[in-house]
Amino acid sequence: MSRVLRVFDDLGELSRAALRELMQHAEDSVRVRGRFTLALAGGNTPRALYALLAREQAFPWQKSELWLGDERVVPLADPASNAGMVRALLQESPFIPDTVLEPVRTELAPEQAASEYEARLRQRFAHAALPRFDLALLGLGSDGHTASLFPHAPALEEKSAWATSHRPPPAPARITLTYPALNNARHVLFLVAGEDKAEALRRVFVDQGSVKDVPARGIAPTHGTLAFFADRAAAGELRGA
Ligand code: 6PG
Repeated sequence: MSRVLRVFDDLGELSRAALRELMQHAEDSVRVRGRFTLALAGGNTPRALYALLAREQAFPWQKSELWLGDERVVPLADPASNAGMVRALLQESPFIPDTVLEPVRTELAPEQAASEYEARLRQRFAHAALPRFDLALLGLGSDGHTASLFPHAPALEEKSAWATSHRPPPAPARITLTYPALNNARHVLFLVAGEDKAEALRRVFVDQGSVKDVPARGIAPTHGTLAFFADRAAAGELRGA
């Protein structure tokens, strides 16, 4: 499986390039399949991209569904909520339907929230063997995690569920898509910015440590593409690697 790495001067340029990439996938998906299903990364890095996307009236909003690659089990109003972050950025645009985002039902207990999310996914993907997101956006933690697939976590071993829960101490519980669900996407795009991600990105590319040590290395689309968009600060340790 080939991995594409593109390096940008800064997060702004990275976000603009990611928007162009996202718009192209959306156009292709709607042309071929009439729909565009997108799994969103959480955290801070994608905020700039989502703010740009919210201004894109040309995006096929009426033919798209935005799912979450992972979520913290907190109320929507909580600053840690990924759905809350996305909704706050999208709600400014009158042309974006309220129903475009499929949040996790975080009022449920974590295990129930994961089961309910997966049931909705299975319904959306017509009970296929696996969900086939047209595009999955992912971030990279400085510890090598992605989505809420953390080093040495039980979720890394999940081979059949599409979504599962994770209870790290002391942070809030999380819901995450699993490797089987993410690795069945048509396209996976990591957005990585900041010097604090340089070591993790180097470990992903230079293949140091096991997938358990560096969970982002477990993202290997079975029949899809994999790309990393990084800013210079995050790619600093890759030169010559
Ligand atoms: C989350 C994310 C997580 C994130 C990385 C990077 O919900 O926290 O999905 O995997 O992408 O932790 O986070 P930053 O972009 O905030 O550095």
